[in-house]
Amino acid sequence: MEYTWETLEQECLSCRKCSLCETRTNVVFGVGNKSADILFIGEGPGQNEDLQGEPFVGRGGQLLDKMLAAVDLDRKTNIYIANIVKCRPPQNRDPLPEEQDACINWLREQVRLLRPKIIVCLGRIAAAKLIKPDIKITKEHGIFFEKNGVLMMATLHPAALLRNPGQKPGAFEDFLKLREKLDELSIQ
Ligand code: URA
Repeated sequence: MEYTWETLEQECLSCRKCSLCETRTNVVFGVGNKSADILFIGEGPGQNEDLQGEPFVGRGGQLLDKMLAAVDLDRKTNIYIANIVKCRPPQNRDPLPEEQDACINWLREQVRLLRPKIIVCLGRIAAAKLIKPDIKITKEHGIFFEKNGVLMMATLHPAALLRNPGQKPGAFEDFLKLREKLDELSIQ
């Protein structure tokens, strides 16, 4: 069956494909402009996201919004944001490989509907799942990879930047590279 955004979200919100459904408050489907050319992908909801049903709404999300604003991007107007897993892993642990595998088709359908030109992976988990399993995020952040005609880049996860503020300038460079690429490709 070919999904529309509406049918996809409706089905995803009642997903029971893995045990994360037992402990979630809300499924965090995604947010943003469904015609955007740029897709940001995190690993999975934390406590605030689970409570509010929206990705990146905690302190990490506020930092992400600031970095986006610095390069003229905004979650409501020109990007879409989603996660590898749509339900919160307990105690914010990394999502298990089987949880990622159970959930990944929701993201694949989101990518099929959105048809982004650029995907930015926020952190190692998303980058390993979508760019390459052995990615070294500290070395390979800010590099563009092309996969199936889509440009993909990894940057450091906002939560990692809050833990290690010394890494913020490096991550900010990634956002500047993204802005350069958007301008080069005339992506609004
Ligand atoms: N961390 C993520 O990876 N995704 C969110 O939505 C929130 C925190």
